[in-house]
Amino acid sequence: MARKDLLDISSLSREEIDLLLGQAVPFKELFTRSVKKVPALKGKSVLMLFYEPSTRTHSSFEVAAKRLSADVTNFDVPHSSVVKGESVRETIETLQAMRTDYIVVRHGHSSLPSIIAGMTKASVINAGDGAHAHPTQALLDAFTLQEVYPEGLAGKKVLIIGDILHSRVARSTSTILKRLDAEVAFLGPGSLVPKSGPENIKRFTDYEEAMKWKPDVVYLLRVQMERQDVQFFPSLREYHRVYGITEERLKRIDGEGLWLMHPGPVNRGVELCDAAMDYSRSLINRQVENGIAVRMAVLYWLKPGGGGEEG
Ligand code: CP
Repeated sequence: MARKDLLDISSLSREEIDLLLGQAVPFKELFTRSVKKVPALKGKSVLMLFYEPSTRTHSSFEVAAKRLSADVTNFDVPHSSVVKGESVRETIETLQAMRTDYIVVRHGHSSLPSIIAGMTKASVINAGDGAHAHPTQALLDAFTLQEVYPEGLAGKKVLIIGDILHSRVARSTSTILKRLDAEVAFLGPGSLVPKSGPENIKRFTDYEEAMKWKPDVVYLLRVQMERQDVQFFPSLREYHRVYGITEERLKRIDGEGLWLMHPGPVNRGVELCDAAMDYSRSLINRQVENGIAVRMAVLYWLKPGGGGEEG
């Protein structure tokens, strides 16, 4: 069934996830060619509508769209009529009149991309909405892990560490990893690890206890200082000591051969010590690179008029 929008991971079937991850492979192969562009979306237009800051998601969507030969328009929220009080509905109706084919949206309110999707004929892609979902981050995380585990993720153990409660990354990435038969556990302060939710996800509040679970991958979440989560623990120094990858812990995870992931941007000295940035099994830069391939796959999959399933 052709899809118009990508709003979350939970509404995707396993077949759709496999299709998207599979389509990202040939797109990544393009990166090593002298000509990295293909005409797949020539004549299509992509509007970037970011109400919240972004480096990786915004720039990789823009690069992805351009490598598919689409035209890209950046809606400059701080210099738009939004600051004069224009509502999201008015903004979308105005943009709809421009007949854009895709709207890539990031917003602080959960479910806003879904509301926008109901207002427009354009394909809406959720680039992160509040604490709800970040589906392309989840896809790039799964794609990156499938590269290091080409045999598949079944039985692989991923420990997600940090503010689980407010994290759209934790929600979407844990959902996709479970769908791909990986085992997932959460570790964080008791106030930031939801007690309800999927029963097949283990929950830890103590780092040493979590390590006894023998994870293959440690996935550090960003401490969202702008959402003032810092109030949930005494200080950033204390957070680093209790939940961060300190130099001592880095030596241990190196000795045990664990992979290290983080969605970025990293708060150095909080989630990760400086030395972790040069850790040989860090996948952080690879996550960024793979973000382009995965977002090319998503744009192609949602191609207006179909074609995304042709391979
Ligand atoms: N991972 C992620 O969403 O990063 P940005 O906020 O830089 O887009």
